[in-house]
Amino acid sequence: MLIGLGLGPGDPELLTLKAVRILKESDTVYVPGKLALELVSPYTDAEILDFPMTHDKTTLDTTISNNADVVSAEARHKLVAFGLIGDPNFFSTFTRLKRQIRERYPDIIIKTVPGISSITAFASRTDTGIDRSFVVSDGSLVTTKIVLKARRPKRIKEDLIKEGYSNFIFAEKLFSDAERVTDDIPDTGDYFSILHASKKNENNEKKSQGG
Ligand SMILES: C[S@@+](CC[C@H](N)C(=O)[O-])C[C@H]1O[C@@H](n2cnc3c(N)ncnc32)[C@H](O)[C@@H]1O
Repeated sequence: MLIGLGLGPGDPELLTLKAVRILKESDTVYVPGKLALELVSPYTDAEILDFPMTHDKTTLDTTISNNADVVSAEARHKLVAFGLIGDPNFFSTFTRLKRQIRERYPDIIIKTVPGISSITAFASRTDTGIDRSFVVSDGSLVTTKIVLKARRPKRIKEDLIKEGYSNFIFAEKLFSDAERVTDDIPDTGDYFSILHASKKNENNEKKSQGG
């Protein structure tokens, strides 16, 4: 099994208890760079898997492909953690690695464990309360909308379809005993719920591996 493990924004005290446990229990731990290596070093001997900072598609594809081979060979029979800065599903190297592995090695079980991402770390350090809708961008097209407090998810979905959104995931009471995650969007939801809408399939990878 492969676990994409969120390590938080860089403060050793902002690792979760779950992250520490998984680091200790894993047979092999990979990280993408020195900051992540430092964060995991009190708990395990990790290995850096190089992900070069380049826009060259060939180099990127080759690197991801090679890293997918290395990680999959280990993860087929052992518990492998890949520790990443912030959260593993938020603008993360792990998403592309996961995509490759799912395509080429579908037998590998992949899960992710969330970490404190740069967005909430930023809000905390700058005393910025984010309580209105906002856009996060790395310069690519905006193809995703996340609606909080989705108490009327079906109605929200119908409105978003008119804006061109086509893929929807509803998540309620995450990480609790009453958790519900479904793409069969219900009429009503709890206050602790999220509707994720995207315009492209690539933003809408398998929901069942959430964490
Ligand atoms: C590849 S993304 C990784 C995002 C990460 N997965 C997350 O959940 O925050 C790298 C970008 O995240 C932001 N970032 C991550 N950690 C940060 C930190 N400690 N301080 C400021 N920005 C950070 C920066 O914008 C950086 O260029």
